[in-house]
Amino acid sequence: MRLKDKVAVITGAARGIGQAYAERFAQEGAAIVVADILDREGEEVTAGIKAKGGRAIYARCDVTSRAQVSALMDRAVTSFGQLDIVIANAALPDFGDVMDVTDDTFDKVFAVNVKGTFLTDQEAAKRMIAGKRKGVIINIASTVAVVGDNYEGCYPASKGAVNLLTRTFALSMAPHGIRVVAIGPGPVKTAMMAGPLSDPVRLKGLKARTPLGRPAEPFEIAAVAVFLASDEASFVTGQTYYADGGRLALNYVMPETN
Ligand SMILES: NC(=O)c1ccc[n+]([C@@H]2O[C@H](COP(=O)([O-])OP(=O)(O)OC[C@H]3O[C@@H](n4cnc5c(N)ncnc54)[C@H](O)[C@@H]3O)[C@@H](O)[C@H]2O)c1
Repeated sequence: MRLKDKVAVITGAARGIGQAYAERFAQEGAAIVVADILDREGEEVTAGIKAKGGRAIYARCDVTSRAQVSALMDRAVTSFGQLDIVIANAALPDFGDVMDVTDDTFDKVFAVNVKGTFLTDQEAAKRMIAGKRKGVIINIASTVAVVGDNYEGCYPASKGAVNLLTRTFALSMAPHGIRVVAIGPGPVKTAMMAGPLSDPVRLKGLKARTPLGRPAEPFEIAAVAVFLASDEASFVTGQTYYADGGRLALNYVMPETN
């Protein structure tokens, strides 16, 4: 119960790693606001948490809208009395060569991944300051925030921006005792990665650059988030924690894997 009596908002929590954060945080004692644009899946995740005795509500929120993000944070405070933890997890992928990225794709990916993270951080921070909470904001970056990837269009650039938003918000929030950190996952088995993970060529490439030789399960990333959100990480701010199976430590590719 490392997050006992905390209140957490998680965007993009209707499935994938966001769902894993929501379920694990609830197990650790937090009340959860499950936020997403996938209403049916979001309601199901919420019902699942409540069925196990947890506290949770579902709130529809498109993170590209300041009005909706603002209403989301207000909903957390009115429903559970405070706001302690926010995970800016919602994001869109972009697969293909950067030369093929259209204006429309670039605008959509940056609207969700960068502006959505910016709005989530800013609106969360306002509530934490107003409530005098020494809260924690966790952004979601990626290994491709620091290394290029010729299969992911403009997505790596959007995650690079998330890393700098993390550092910038961390500096701004430090005087308030609010920590702002990020997680940089390597490949994780979710709907977002279903295409690459089912393509034998991409899967082979992925394993060749992952020393642990496999993609992660969502719960392995959620475990990192519990630590960062907990008081055990009380001196950690402005950092991105890479849970990447060793990818960023690797220079040459791994010997051939199955
Ligand atoms: N899966 C991976 O391999 C991997 C690796 C590195 C980083 N990440 C990051 O982890 C996070 C979760 O990824 P995932 O793999 O679980 O993806 P996913 O596609 O399974 O889940 C993303 C969720 O975000 C929601 N979302 C999308 N646009 C939204 C919007 N405008 N407003 C609100 N919600 C919106 C989706 O509905 C979905 O539920 C993302 O930030 C992603 O970039 C994933």
